[in-house]
Amino acid sequence: MRLTSRLVFTAAFAATVVGATCDEYNLEPFKIDLCGGIPHLKALVNNTWLPEKALYPGAGVDKGVELDTLRELRNEWVTTFDWEKQEAELNQLEHFTAEIEGQVVHFVHQKSKASDAIPGPVILIHGWPGSFHEFLPVIEPLTQPSFNATSGKNVSFNVVIPSLPGFVFSSPPPQNWTVDDTARVFNTLMSEVLGYSTYAVHGTDWGAGVSYSMYSSFSETVRATHLKVTLQRDIEWTSTGTGYFVELQTKPNDLGLALYDSPVGQLAWIGGKFKIWSDPRAGTPPSVFDNTAILTAISLYYLTHTFLSSVWIYEQNQNGLKPVYTKALTDAPLLFSQYEYNVALWPEEYVAKVGNLVSYKAHDFGVHSAGLDNPPALLEDIRDMAKYFP
Ligand SMILES: *[C@@H]1O[C@H](CO)[C@@H](O)[C@H](O)[C@H]1NC(C)=O
Ligand SMILES: *[C@@H]1O[C@H](CO)[C@@H](O)[C@H](O)[C@H]1NC(C)=O
Ligand SMILES: *[C@@H]1O[C@H](CO)[C@@H](O)[C@H](O)[C@H]1NC(C)=O
Ligand SMILES: *[C@@H]1O[C@H](CO)[C@@H](O)[C@H](O)[C@H]1NC(C)=O
Repeated sequence: MRLTSRLVFTAAFAATVVGATCDEYNLEPFKIDLCGGIPHLKALVNNTWLPEKALYPGAGVDKGVELDTLRELRNEWVTTFDWEKQEAELNQLEHFTAEIEGQVVHFVHQKSKASDAIPGPVILIHGWPGSFHEFLPVIEPLTQPSFNATSGKNVSFNVVIPSLPGFVFSSPPPQNWTVDDTARVFNTLMSEVLGYSTYAVHGTDWGAGVSYSMYSSFSETVRATHLKVTLQRDIEWTSTGTGYFVELQTKPNDLGLALYDSPVGQLAWIGGKFKIWSDPRAGTPPSVFDNTAILTAISLYYLTHTFLSSVWIYEQNQNGLKPVYTKALTDAPLLFSQYEYNVALWPEEYVAKVGNLVSYKAHDFGVHSAGLDNPPALLEDIRDMAKYFP
């Protein structure tokens, strides 16, 4: 998404509840079953030609994915990577589908394990090239009671993680669908399908755009946001890191179709982004963003045939988020977090202009997919919202 929106945004607010009638939305339990595609995937990956050696060995990741990285991931995908194991782990979660505005919306709904804890429903919204999978490390901990010595209370959440329209198990949206349309559908999911009268929102990347739209359109109260980046990094990103954005914004079918049945192509395109948008310490604690996580993320796109529909989100939202933000008409608290290796700069003064900013935080580890890159920090950010629940 656009540089100004590459952020982690967290908000919470009260929504109006209309009587919840699940039948109307065809709410159904859902299980992932993509094993049938694995022989095709492995055969293609195994048979893909790669250069014997790098054309220009001195060219680093700033020129795109490095051959050694690609080869290492490719080899793991064919040999040690175990999709069935990953799928079984993902199926430990409670998955559902619902039909909202004629579209299938897939989501995880994991309920709090604590009867005495603050019942904060929270919706976590991913971006590109992510999916619900990027929140895996924080889901269970959020449902467990976490004791806060200051307030003397336990905090835990009912966690809802939808797939954006056109991503993995959610059906592709109509052609001119925007993040505002997604925000409306997700508000229906929370308030009508699931019956939550108030809830908190956290979003990253395109999910931040959806979150902000939910905050400004459906909210009465906001909770928080966090942001940090160095200005220098922002300038580098603007001059060298946005080519993919223009390509996807203008010709989504070229790349979407070129890589549709090319797992190694998707690995190069997406894996390159994961590498360059990750903390250099990725894969070492607290990061769990290792090769298995990257391969699981890309297998989800490939096996669900949704690489094409996922990249259309750039074409459908030409301005990234919005060209100009005005103050949201809500007093709901807004919390903002910036992670060290993020690529855009949202200064505190700017964030304060668009909502009721109550918290502006910086984390010195992590970047784009905080759920994998720095799960403890993301947990802390989300738990911070609990104090704004009644
Ligand atoms: C990959 O290709 C090699 C060489 O053709 C073959 O020996 C091996 O069995 C293949 N592995 C898989 C998982 O298909
Ligand atoms: C918090 O949760 C823990 C674990 O369930 C429980 O042992 C403890 O009594 C709870 N504390 C409060 C203040 O509710
Ligand atoms: C989508 O928007 C474009 C540009 O505004 C318009 O020309 C086109 O007719 C729209 N397509 C649909 C299916 O609504
Ligand atoms: C603990 O509760 C206090 C008082 O509500 C709050 O200010 C603080 O942010 C909470 N700490 C965490 C880690 O949630």
